[in-house]
Amino acid sequence: MKKAKVIVDKNFILGAVDKRIYGSFIEHLGRAVYEGIYQPESPFADEQGVRKDVISLIKQLNVPIVRYPGGNFVSGYHWEDGVGDKSTRPVRTDLAWKTLETNQFGLNEFMEWTKKADTEAMMAVNLGTRGPEDAKNLVEYCNHPGGALYSDMRKQHGYNTPHDIKVWCLGNEMDGPWQMGHKTAKEYGRIAAEAGRIMKMVDSSIELVACGSSNYGMETFGYWEDAVLEECYEQIDYLSLHQYYGNEENNASEFLANTVAMDQFICSVISICDSVRARKKKQKYINLSFDEWNVWYHSHEQDKKIAPWSVAPHLLEDVYNFEDALLVAGIMITMLRHADRIKMACLAQLVNVIAPIMTSDTGAWKQTIYYPFELISNYGRGSVLNTLVECSVYESQYGDAPFLDCVLVWNEEKENIVLFAVNKSLDEDMKITCDLRQFEGYTIKKHIVLTHSDLKAENTEAHPDEVCPSENGKSSIENGVVTAQLPDKSFHVIVLAK
Ligand code: AHR
Repeated sequence: MKKAKVIVDKNFILGAVDKRIYGSFIEHLGRAVYEGIYQPESPFADEQGVRKDVISLIKQLNVPIVRYPGGNFVSGYHWEDGVGDKSTRPVRTDLAWKTLETNQFGLNEFMEWTKKADTEAMMAVNLGTRGPEDAKNLVEYCNHPGGALYSDMRKQHGYNTPHDIKVWCLGNEMDGPWQMGHKTAKEYGRIAAEAGRIMKMVDSSIELVACGSSNYGMETFGYWEDAVLEECYEQIDYLSLHQYYGNEENNASEFLANTVAMDQFICSVISICDSVRARKKKQKYINLSFDEWNVWYHSHEQDKKIAPWSVAPHLLEDVYNFEDALLVAGIMITMLRHADRIKMACLAQLVNVIAPIMTSDTGAWKQTIYYPFELISNYGRGSVLNTLVECSVYESQYGDAPFLDCVLVWNEEKENIVLFAVNKSLDEDMKITCDLRQFEGYTIKKHIVLTHSDLKAENTEAHPDEVCPSENGKSSIENGVVTAQLPDKSFHVIVLAK
């Protein structure tokens, strides 16, 4: 049996959890919008065509912000195509995904949907094929009170009150050669600065996210962040990070060690932000928006077979397994361990497209990765305690990987402490201890466990409950010291309260 010690101190608080780190993402891609959140002909749809079964699953996830409408899609999007009378909206080619976009669901439908899903919008503007002028018009359409061309257009479309969208992404993955309107770092930095400045002239209350690298492996990584921030540090508030993980080699230990790679990625971006801050002698910090993250690889081969130019094809429909759920838990723990700088994050995506929720014409179900997201999103609210982990490590391509991923979140107001932990060992149980004597009067209320004997176990429509949590974890607290048994390959949520 492995042993690990988790050390926290009541006075060592890393930072408050910004609830927006539990965000997600809906792109006009595959069946995310059509057949995902919107399907007028479905027996599960409401009078506006919104899938009620999907809304109910999203509400359980407690997602405070949803990025929209892309993704790669946004870099060729004309938002005007998706507003006003549905019968006159054009069908367009979407060059990002080689599909047809009917525009039957657009900006205003999305804003109505956010209310039903108890969430807020994180709106992306097209800085690929378009630029500052159109971005400015879109902010006016969404946020201006009225009496000008675009705000009056919104009113004519039936929305008298502004949508008041607070968070805006300045394009998407503009460093990627696959991106429509791909730019060099300097070109993008200039456009982001000017688009951002003009957008804030329309509404000074908005917050802006500039594109960081599309992933840690990009050749331009590091240089891109530095050069972009050099141009737009003054105008923006957050820098984005995107990363997807795969297990093509079918090596579970290496796959789970991706939390180490992710940690290195985050630390590197923080260093670059702070180095530009030092160079520019600024007070302001640029915080991070990890606005695309997930496991993505299962559907790669299948997607190659999909015929181009269809409407809502089955694209990026990864079927997730238990090991994916373990990594998702590890990723979320890693982000919480940087809660002082990561203020927003989006699980990419939310429905059907690399998603925790899947739909068919006969229902909707929870993939394996739904559960770690649901548990951490619901229980991980409060302040992150600086969590020191003493445990054994294993060698991975990213360096030493600890067998235990762990973090504690303390909600002083609600008087609860939650310990999140993943035992990454594939064949050995682990005994962990955590001295909580400083937190008087707390007892263990719940110990939720997600585990399965088969790393490849999946949830499907026919067998939706193959991988799901139970409340049978083994832990105790004696004289303020928590002891817990973590079976090999398992995720844990231990809830303490007064
Ligand atoms: O989420 C799927 C795609 O991944 C997004 O459109 C893009 O931004 C990223 O490359």
